[in-house]
Amino acid sequence: MTQPLPSKPFLDVLAGTRQAVPPLWMMRQAGRYLPEYREVRTKAGGFLDLCFNPEFAAEVTLQPIRRFGFDAAIIFSDILVVPYALGRNVRFEVGEGPRLDPLDTPDKIATLPPRADGAKFAPVYEALRRVRAELDPKIALIGFCGAPWTVATYMVAGQGTPDQAPARMLAYREPQAFAKIIDALVESSIGYLLGQLEAGADALQIFDTWAGVLPPREFQRWSVEPTRRIIAGVRAKAPHAKIIGFPRGAGALLPGYVEATGVNGVSIDWTAEPSLMRERVQSKVALQGNLDPLALIAGGDALDRAIDDVLENYAQGRLIFNLGHGIQPETPIAHVERMVKRVRGYRG
Ligand code: CP3
Repeated sequence: MTQPLPSKPFLDVLAGTRQAVPPLWMMRQAGRYLPEYREVRTKAGGFLDLCFNPEFAAEVTLQPIRRFGFDAAIIFSDILVVPYALGRNVRFEVGEGPRLDPLDTPDKIATLPPRADGAKFAPVYEALRRVRAELDPKIALIGFCGAPWTVATYMVAGQGTPDQAPARMLAYREPQAFAKIIDALVESSIGYLLGQLEAGADALQIFDTWAGVLPPREFQRWSVEPTRRIIAGVRAKAPHAKIIGFPRGAGALLPGYVEATGVNGVSIDWTAEPSLMRERVQSKVALQGNLDPLALIAGGDALDRAIDDVLENYAQGRLIFNLGHGIQPETPIAHVERMVKRVRGYRG
């Protein structure tokens, strides 16, 4: 007789079953707050060299799992590997974040290929296979990409800006040219996500960090609709693919996003209004979030209170405990340990 596959609490929540103790992981869980990450990062050279070195990428993916025993590992990579595979020049400058050659005129956009060079993703797939081979079967492996809107904001401006005004402006002034960037990202992301599933990812997350800067009409056109197309494209070949969306800052537009895109879960930030989230979002899909990363830095009673608020607000329904955005480099490791212990001690 074949053994039943061990269940993964993280996937069970996405598939529809609440867990008494919510599964837990953290956005950006592999990163500079860990000394073991900083060590590999130094050895790797540049940040993209780390992303494209399967041995190192697999190692840093597993580091937070070994240290904290999270319920999910997220493959170590970056959303900007997709523009890189589209032939854009992507660099990470120390202390400054990503830099790209701005793609900000219809003439420049006309040179963009319709889809990424898939061969460029091979090292990410190899890293996924290595992680899957080493990971405890009860722990889920998450693949990811950036949502077209968020990736486009970096491609257009060439860097992060406080409100991603350059991309918003281009989308108003040159909507057809801007749509060409979005279309290339939709096509590339479908192939990239399918490749990650094939290489061993159990679930996928689509990061739309800059969704919250858009007015409702533009949110529909540039965030919701491209995300819906990606999910439909992935499910055309992988009908049961489990997908989490993270339209950060979408607030009251979240119920519409969930309905239109077909996500199995949404990641929410710490500004979300709990009754709206419970009644119009968590009633339909799994909810992931939403501890304020600054409470995790602060620690002590403020941290305990913030953790308990998340649990009180959402743990009676389908919850994956997480932060409302990525963990910050200055976060003390002891505070992460305190969080894990408190969440795991929950008896609701
Ligand atoms: O979550 C994980 O542990 C997996 C790895 C991961 C990274 N980036 C590694 C990374 C994931 C899922 C991302 C997603 C990502 N990358 C997003 C969306 C999510 C979010 O946090 O908003 C965005 C907008 C990016 C683009 C990006 N990459 C920026 C703006 C920066 C600079 C800011 C910073 O934190 O330094 C990066 C660099 C980056 N990506 C780092 C890491 C660990 C730090 C770089 C370093 O180690 O030197």
